[in-house]
Amino acid sequence: MCGITAYIGAEPALPFLMQGLSKLEYRGYDSAGVTLVDSSGLFTCKTKGRLKQLEDMLETVPCPQKCGIGHTRWATHGVPSQMNSHPHTNEKNTISLVHNGIIENYLALKEELLKKGYKFKSETDTEIVVHLLDDYYYHEHLSLFEALLKAVHQLQGSFALCIVSTEEPDVIYAAKKESPMVLGRDKSGTMCASDAPALLAYTSEILPLKDGQAVIMKADSLQIFDFDGVPQEEEWIVFPYDVHAAQKGGYDSFMMKEIHEQPSAVRETLRGRFRGEMVYMPEIEKLNLPARGIQRIYYVACGTAYHACVYAVTQISARARCAVSAMPASEFRYGSPYLDEHTLCVFVSQSGETADTIAALKLAKEKGAVTAGVVNVLGSGITRLADATLYTCAGPEISVASTKAYTTQLVLLTCLNIKLADLLDWGVFDQYQLIEDLQKLPEAIEEVLKYEKKIAELAELLRYRQDAYFIGRQLDYPTAMEGALKLKEVSYVHADAYYAGELKHGPIALIEKDSVVIAMATQPKVAAKTVSNIEETIARGARVILITTQQMKADRFEHVLRLPELSDELSAVTGVVLLQMLAYYTASIKGCDIDKPRNLAKSVTVE
Ligand code: AGP
Repeated sequence: MCGITAYIGAEPALPFLMQGLSKLEYRGYDSAGVTLVDSSGLFTCKTKGRLKQLEDMLETVPCPQKCGIGHTRWATHGVPSQMNSHPHTNEKNTISLVHNGIIENYLALKEELLKKGYKFKSETDTEIVVHLLDDYYYHEHLSLFEALLKAVHQLQGSFALCIVSTEEPDVIYAAKKESPMVLGRDKSGTMCASDAPALLAYTSEILPLKDGQAVIMKADSLQIFDFDGVPQEEEWIVFPYDVHAAQKGGYDSFMMKEIHEQPSAVRETLRGRFRGEMVYMPEIEKLNLPARGIQRIYYVACGTAYHACVYAVTQISARARCAVSAMPASEFRYGSPYLDEHTLCVFVSQSGETADTIAALKLAKEKGAVTAGVVNVLGSGITRLADATLYTCAGPEISVASTKAYTTQLVLLTCLNIKLADLLDWGVFDQYQLIEDLQKLPEAIEEVLKYEKKIAELAELLRYRQDAYFIGRQLDYPTAMEGALKLKEVSYVHADAYYAGELKHGPIALIEKDSVVIAMATQPKVAAKTVSNIEETIARGARVILITTQQMKADRFEHVLRLPELSDELSAVTGVVLLQMLAYYTASIKGCDIDKPRNLAKSVTVE
């Protein structure tokens, strides 16, 4: 998704803008640009391509201006091109703006502006905003801030906007609705960005802007208003990660660094969650669930986080005394999920800003359901909307491919399930062994990370393959889904996950000599069944990588990786670490851009 940076202060703005944009690269982008402003005018420089190209263009240009805005664009309306990249300026070149989000009614607004004689240079939805501001400022004689407030009332959809102008070169205006924006300040000035990592080199005190807020940023002050111009309180938080946590720390990619951070991420997520043999979750206790007569529970999310939901539901469904289901947020929001005050909805998200998940959460709230978020990013959209938030303490996840966010979601959802079983009186969860083993998980992950060299060799099986097949049953199935997603996402090898028992109902037709099958067989009740399914693929020429338990009789297979002994529920955590490494090494031998896969964005803040 697009990334925004803005700075106004006593120092030249460009260094802040550029370092901030580079910290936002994880969001994915196809073009980049900046506008710098002072009393002599606006200077805009933008290009299709990487930040390096923008840097090269700016290398020989003196840029002393102390106010500016920057942008990395991820194309939604109009192809990636110099013209479509941001910032966008008015015809007089006196107003410039950057935007993250989608203006849904831009065509209707464009028609009106065209009638008024405005000329458009780009195919973007964004450009209408700069012409609206021009119209309100120059023709209706509103102040720039009034023009912004009037404009945001016209816009449907999502937006985070930053605006500079030669008319007021010592101010930056910003506004937010459904797209992320955080503010910061240090001794030198005031700044804002789409996400905190862009600010962390300057300050760890962050103000996450709320939906429906607009800001007047000056070098030494910052004022927040709602869209009607009513002053709002400032709610600052101290961001708990330092800037070094967002660097690669010796690994050649963020993905590998984050894979190796999983023992500590899991440890942090579990910290303080146990009181003896019970799960401690005051956030959930406050929801007063027993009194609400909960009759159904939905776990809702997108992508990897959705796989965590499938895991949570598979884990709980045998024990729950009510209906439980997992749904992708994009289906939930447009389906007709049964929602009322007896429904609990759990929304899972690394970023806390995923547009579909936020829309699903809003729907659940409208219908009176009880809502809880399982989120990694402090102060993000979901945390501000949900009735309760449980934080995965994975630290900043920069790689587009989610790794440590997933495993921390699995452990936190396991704790949540134990808590729900306890609160809603569902009876035995065999929780004592599970709680003991959850605490052993960081060491168990350390153990499986030792397979790294072996996995690097196994990745050779996939070097020239176009497809891979992941299979598993019960709790192994979400792991298979996540392994397949990881592989296709970073290595571009097409991969699908199947319930192992479903293979012979169709997919086995695809198996031929040297097809690669990755099988998860860690659940004692069904592992032998999965192993029989593997035999069927081997009979058709498949090369199999089997991930299983210590006890499973499987030495006859070519490649067997055995997981440390823990409760069956937790093999999903150790097992997926192997699949993450397999995806990483496959991508690495194929020379892929691992941290920034093509067409993907870290945080999908548009529908
Ligand atoms: C995972 O590797 C993905 N890049 C993607 O599926 C991601 O999990 C999804 O977009 C949801 O993001 P969220 O957790 O920030 O809501």
